[in-house]
Amino acid sequence: MQQTILKTINDINKWKNNLEDNINFVPTMGNLHKGHLELIHQSNKDGSNETLVSIFINPLQFNDKKDFKNYPKTIEKDIKLAFSSGANAIFLPSEKEILNIKSLIYQKACKKLSSNLCGKSREGHFDGVCTIVFRMLKIINPQKMFLGEKDWQQVIILKNMIKKLNLKVEIKSINTQRDADGVPFSSRNNLLTTSERKDLQFFSKELKKAKKNFLVNKVINLEEINNSFKNKNLKVEYLQHLSAFSLNESIDKENITILAGAILCGSTRLIDHVFLMKRKPIIAIDGPAGSGKSTVTKLIAKKLDFIYLDTGAMYRALSWFLIDQKISYENDNILEECLKKLNIVFKTNLNSDQDIFINDICVTNKIRSQKISSIVSSIASIGKVREFLVKEQRKIGDKGGIVAEGRDIGTTVFPKAEIKIYLNASIDERAKRRKIELEIQGQDINFDKLKDQIKQRDLDDSTRNISPLVKAEDAIEIITDNYTAEQIADKIIQIFYEKLPKEIKNDF
Ligand code: CDP
Repeated sequence: MQQTILKTINDINKWKNNLEDNINFVPTMGNLHKGHLELIHQSNKDGSNETLVSIFINPLQFNDKKDFKNYPKTIEKDIKLAFSSGANAIFLPSEKEILNIKSLIYQKACKKLSSNLCGKSREGHFDGVCTIVFRMLKIINPQKMFLGEKDWQQVIILKNMIKKLNLKVEIKSINTQRDADGVPFSSRNNLLTTSERKDLQFFSKELKKAKKNFLVNKVINLEEINNSFKNKNLKVEYLQHLSAFSLNESIDKENITILAGAILCGSTRLIDHVFLMKRKPIIAIDGPAGSGKSTVTKLIAKKLDFIYLDTGAMYRALSWFLIDQKISYENDNILEECLKKLNIVFKTNLNSDQDIFINDICVTNKIRSQKISSIVSSIASIGKVREFLVKEQRKIGDKGGIVAEGRDIGTTVFPKAEIKIYLNASIDERAKRRKIELEIQGQDINFDKLKDQIKQRDLDDSTRNISPLVKAEDAIEIITDNYTAEQIADKIIQIFYEKLPKEIKNDF
């Protein structure tokens, strides 16, 4: 394998001209350790892309000149390590090349994301990170960029910048790599004396202990943890418990949070964190009729061993019951009395599929009739019906570990779902799919009539007053035409894992 060292932008351009593959970019400041090497390994494992590792100590991200001067430099060793770990090329630019005043466009890190944790004491640090990463991305134009989750705030800030500037690069973040004593690998660890290393060990251990306690009692007592540091004479710069994604301090309603801190070991500042999760994750899938929700949701549930929740089936079951029992549901009191006595449950059948029961009557097939399809939207627009079913759905999803599909999952039922997907497809594709489904069930219906029926239902669902079908602000839209359900399910699972901190993956 050819191993190339590139020193100038000109070198990069020439190298890129001869490339057939896309680039995976691993930005570093050198003094490579096992954390960096894992990034290079993961990049190398990922398809046929070329791995380009940059080594550049970014002066703009140091608010302390002494820290910049002392930052460990081990270029010769780094080059050997990067190549032996799978790098195809190393970019070793001079400061002049990167900080060229004509080409450098200063970036500002998102204020909200950089106001806590390291942003508090390291003024301008994240602006410096954003500026240089942006500059590197423009020079290299990689398909993917690999970042370590040890610097979680940096990952979140860079993801935000990439989204805001609409840059076409995918971020792959890799779990924090730790040494045998539990301390996260960091270039600055080399600067520690034996006793300073002991302090860092204690700090990491306390965070881990707090996580263990949290798994049992779901609370973090910052004061108690801080006291344990005081007793040890540990110089804590900050210890915060924040929402993992917005890095916000209001965490009451948050599921995944981060307990993160920085300590001073002598004059060296080091950071560590743990991720905490109150319940297992929730995946919300919304979209119009025939967009592929049910098939995809079932597949995801099977692959992740999550609960599968078809909320549409609940609206259909309730509609069937009201009609079968001839209940005057237009009358509020009668409807209310009826709902009080209702019991809807899902049970797995012998084919490993789900059956739905309403007051012990199995209605799995009955609810798929044309009659129910044509009435369900109007029944689903009744406030009391929605209130009742949303409550039932939340009960089922109480502990998480669920993938739910419907029309209002991301907006109303589980607004705190870890990921929200809005599945869509062209009306022709949706009608085609539905026709095949109905034919399998022995129902034959004219294609144009079916198309009109679906259009009408979409219109009813998206224009009703309560919880209409809309794409949640933070949902990712996926158009499913021309893809198999398997491909879409795998894509959603990939998005899901990409969003979650990798540490959390071991917690459910
Ligand atoms: O499978 P299909 O796309 O035909 O629809 P469904 O998921 O079985 O849902 C049937 C109907 O229930 C929808 O057209 C909506 O009117 C209603 N529904 C809802 O209002 N909210 C949900 N979360 C799920 C379904």
